[in-house]
Amino acid sequence: MDNFIALKNFSAEQINDLVELALKIKRSPADYQTALKGKYAGLLFEKPSLRTKTAFYVGSLQLGAQPVYYAPQEIKLGQREEVKDAARTFSKYLDVVVLRTSSHAILEEFSKFSSIPVVNALSDLLHPSQAIADILTIRELKKDIRKIKVAYAGDGNNVCNSLIYAFSILGGNLNLAIPARYKPRETVLKEALAKSASSGAHIEFVPSLKEAVCGADIIYTDVWTSMGKESERKIRKKYFKSFQINDTILKLAKNDVAVMHCLPAHRGEEITDSVIDGDNSVVFLQAENRLHAAKAILFSLLKK
Ligand code: CP
Ligand code: NVA
Repeated sequence: MDNFIALKNFSAEQINDLVELALKIKRSPADYQTALKGKYAGLLFEKPSLRTKTAFYVGSLQLGAQPVYYAPQEIKLGQREEVKDAARTFSKYLDVVVLRTSSHAILEEFSKFSSIPVVNALSDLLHPSQAIADILTIRELKKDIRKIKVAYAGDGNNVCNSLIYAFSILGGNLNLAIPARYKPRETVLKEALAKSASSGAHIEFVPSLKEAVCGADIIYTDVWTSMGKESERKIRKKYFKSFQINDTILKLAKNDVAVMHCLPAHRGEEITDSVIDGDNSVVFLQAENRLHAAKAILFSLLKK
């Protein structure tokens, strides 16, 4: 692995290996506590973050590496200086850069000029480190992703795009309940379709939320209004109104359905308090798994 920017660049074997490594690290953290001794991990976040920042920050420390954190106002890629100049400079000091930025194009430009590995910590297009933690969570709870029904409801956003890539590569069953005007990008769907042909994945849009969740083993949702889209919140609430995960919807799924959400949640919008706080919710296991996934990603990139 040279970079960790998009799951579409990885094979099923590479993704499964990463998930297995995360599981190993989760079970035996002490075995890895000096694995990255002497390494420096830059954490450059141009948008807020609780989970991703903490997972990579604490994850670096738990592997023996030293994190260096840059807050949203500090570097200002492309404003204070050109993206390529920042990328080349970081490469002189650090061993890896974990980058959260609003534009996926900036992330790609940064990685083009960086001579050290770059990790996508969320862009407008993708959130691959989240997807690795999600696959780990599904693997722990339901074993084989190919033998269960997963329903994703809501916005065709960065989290959804990365799940689509993961399922298309690994060969899972993913039902998407997404309003027409908020569907994932055409390029993502096209690439996923091509990958599904060889992996045997079934990724389908279903006309209603009820149909998507009927008999589901996993229900996954994310905010209707992602970071950067705040001015659209009112109109989005209108279009997504019938896509809320609530008790009525939950009853249509299997009794042991696991409800997933990457967090942060907008309670009362995409998910009700009763569901996110209820017995079927696994959102904090998911949040915990961000740490183990982050460690597996850092280890894979830096341990040659
Ligand atoms: N799920 C996730 O990426 O959370 P943060 O935005 O808090 O990092
Ligand atoms: N789709 C959300 C995910 C946050 C982790 C956003 O981009 O804001």
